[in-house]
Amino acid sequence: MSTGPDPSSPEYSRRIVPYYERDGISIYHGDMREILPGLPAVDLVVTDPPYVVGFASSVQEPKVGGWADLMNAAVWYASWLAECRRLTGPAGATWVFNSWRSFPALCRAAEGARWPIKSLLVWDKQAVGPGLRGLRPRYELVALFANRRFAIRDRRITDIYTCRWPATRKPNHPAEKPVALLRYLVQISAGQEVLDPFAGSGSTLVAAKQLGLRAIGIELEERWCEVAATRVEATEPGSAPADGRVPR
Ligand SMILES: C[S@@+](CC[C@H](N)C(=O)[O-])C[C@H]1O[C@@H](n2cnc3c(N)ncnc32)[C@H](O)[C@@H]1O
Repeated sequence: MSTGPDPSSPEYSRRIVPYYERDGISIYHGDMREILPGLPAVDLVVTDPPYVVGFASSVQEPKVGGWADLMNAAVWYASWLAECRRLTGPAGATWVFNSWRSFPALCRAAEGARWPIKSLLVWDKQAVGPGLRGLRPRYELVALFANRRFAIRDRRITDIYTCRWPATRKPNHPAEKPVALLRYLVQISAGQEVLDPFAGSGSTLVAAKQLGLRAIGIELEERWCEVAATRVEATEPGSAPADGRVPR
């Protein structure tokens, strides 16, 4: 069942015009559910969706309860995950950022999209997050969904990656992810054309451009499209730092 508009409608062609397009990097401003159906195939999706923590329905409809709420989120996750699966070829893959709180919804979504999680990368941020009574958080997760012919060629690579965060500077986006980590995910997956349906401030697009690759980003809020376009514009194509290590 398609939830987006008819691709032949005038509304659709209006929305599909990129907000930014240069040097192989395109940014679309809009809801990814409306834009994904019209995109060409890509090798790789690397994305950082909202973590569905504190969904409004548990506040507005207390009867629903937290678990049902999380499962509502899982239905939404499954809808775009299925699109990512469709858009990536037999050798393609999708990386999805998550946390221990959103992980159950992602597992349910994987089931819904009939695309099992292949691996779960632990990103050790080497920085301690806030927390009053429980353990202070120091990691986030990135789930790998792999198509039939996808493989990480370098068999020394493990499921733990250390990359210090946050940086000392003011972030470009409240949920910004390090470009070095995004570059790492793209490099170990050997993708040439990358898609990020939740682009935020464009970190995935910057990583792709640094590696000299093509990329497409989608972002709902225009203010983040603007930040992403500015960051991409300031990035030299193929300028990946020489220390572009692939840590193990
Ligand atoms: C976790 S942030 C991504 C941050 C990004 N990784 C960065 O480094 O800046 C998720 C982004 O998805 C966007 N978003 C949420 N729902 C969306 C939708 N339906 N379509 C497109 N973007 C959406 C939000 O506006 C937000 O900027």
